[in-house]
Amino acid sequence: MKNHVLIKKKIKPFNKYIRVSGDKSISIRCVLLASQAIGKSKIYNLLESEDVINALLSIKKLGIRYKKVKNYYEIDGYGLDGFNIKKNVTINAGNSGTLARLILGILINSKKEIKIIGDKSLSKRDFSRVTNPLATFGAKIVSNKKKLPVRIKGSEFLRPIIFNEKLGSAQCKSSVMLAAIKTPGKTIIKAKKSRNHTELIFKYLNIPIKVSRKKNYDFIEIDGPVNFRAFDYKIPGDISSSSFFLVLTLLTNKSKLLIKNVNVNKSRTGIIEILNKMNAKILLKNKKTHNGEDVADIFVKSNNNLVSINCPEKLNSSAIDEFLVIFLVAAKAKGVSIFKNLSELNNKESPRLEIATKFLRKIGIKVLRNGDNIKIYGNPNLNLKSNYVIKNFREDHRVFMMSVIAALSFGGNWKIEDKKSINTSFPMFIKLLEKLGAEIN
Ligand code: S3P
Repeated sequence: MKNHVLIKKKIKPFNKYIRVSGDKSISIRCVLLASQAIGKSKIYNLLESEDVINALLSIKKLGIRYKKVKNYYEIDGYGLDGFNIKKNVTINAGNSGTLARLILGILINSKKEIKIIGDKSLSKRDFSRVTNPLATFGAKIVSNKKKLPVRIKGSEFLRPIIFNEKLGSAQCKSSVMLAAIKTPGKTIIKAKKSRNHTELIFKYLNIPIKVSRKKNYDFIEIDGPVNFRAFDYKIPGDISSSSFFLVLTLLTNKSKLLIKNVNVNKSRTGIIEILNKMNAKILLKNKKTHNGEDVADIFVKSNNNLVSINCPEKLNSSAIDEFLVIFLVAAKAKGVSIFKNLSELNNKESPRLEIATKFLRKIGIKVLRNGDNIKIYGNPNLNLKSNYVIKNFREDHRVFMMSVIAALSFGGNWKIEDKKSINTSFPMFIKLLEKLGAEIN
């Protein structure tokens, strides 16, 4: 089957509602926590994408059974010491940094050595950011020059740690939090602000956790070890998947869209704050709290008066996976947009700051890049007519989806490689676009 799409036309005006699939961060956390709960957990609306399926296959390798029953996944846990691990187990995290880093946290007490591997993108990413703090708990961890494969053998004599998380990485924070619930004593984390799904789900599970929120960081204290009971959880829609549709609607004439039941946790809604500062007027409707997480319907309509932004750095972490599409809005906005200190963007599935710079220049947008800062000279009359071929050299799902949104919004004749990458996070992506009327071959 071909692995590219051809797009020859902008999408026509639409006025519709959609639902996007379940949140990826919360899905992976639910699978990993349910695998260590006591009893059978039920997870509704679990994202059925490769990253989450790899999480399910990983817990199976740890001796945990799961099955799909009607509209939920049932995961049968035996508590914090309940893994049954055979000799020479290898866990393949595929493309998922979240899975690879979080599972290392839960293997802090593993009785056998386990090897973690991943695909070619994940194998290029830094693991010292989690192996360093996890080693201080007392586990034996060996990496391949800070990269995968990583081998971990847990310890029976774990000791709590004090960890200063300076990158603003929820993966690092969460990996240490997961190790802390298995470790006797009080682990203390000073964490630069990042998404707080792990904190919220710990609270939902009655795991004793104390969070003191300061201006730029949070203090987290966890007293371990803490066994917890099986749970039911209904996962809300993913704002990162929604972001492609928010931007498409904004950039398409005379269009409106309601995206129902999306997770709008403050630590994830940077894209809405940024786009609204650019004049977007995106609204949250029907707000509620579910299992400790904020959920709402998101309403967006087209806008021909978008303006540039000098993006406050404090929004970087809450929009980290959305910058590729935010840059498309900057390309169409009036004025010069400035984004600063985006070094973490080059540590993702591919070096996204570098890729975005090349992409925007390819479509005729002036871009100045100075290290981790980028200036985008917007062109409100942007209307493409040429041919564009996008080769996605590290098969990055978000690069593929951003390119499709650019093609449908700006026009031109496009061949975009690596359609299969959507299976990582958002297998329904093309079908939902077709529901809005997009012509994609
Ligand atoms: C994630 C955290 C973010 C994000 C990733 C998912 C998570 O990474 O980019 O897609 O689920 O914790 P970092 O924590 O490394 O910034």
